[in-house]
Amino acid sequence: MKVVNITFKFADGSPDETHPAVEGESVLDVALNNDIRLQHNCGGVCGCSTCHVYIEAGMDDLPEISDKEEDYIDRAVDPRINSRLGCQCVVQGNEDVVVTIPEQDFLGH
Ligand code: FES
Repeated sequence: MKVVNITFKFADGSPDETHPAVEGESVLDVALNNDIRLQHNCGGVCGCSTCHVYIEAGMDDLPEISDKEEDYIDRAVDPRINSRLGCQCVVQGNEDVVVTIPEQDFLGH
């Protein structure tokens, strides 16, 4: 089983955190397993935009973005070129990943 590290950075200024991620785990899984606040209104099935994150490094270790994911990212707060949905970022276990968690004080949809 391959393991990489995910480093979480926080737009609210909280200190960075790095946690191991096993191949097949999503950024959302690892966040929630480590008590990192990341909204997930649809429960992680690519049905909302609340788990929106920015991938700062390691995009190559993540699956290709789907049309559905792109549609939801368009509805997120402040989407950028490196935006992804955390529940769809399932690590492959080849490369460490760095993500920024946007401010979570919003009413998601
Ligand atoms: S939790 Fe809804 S799309 Fe990720």
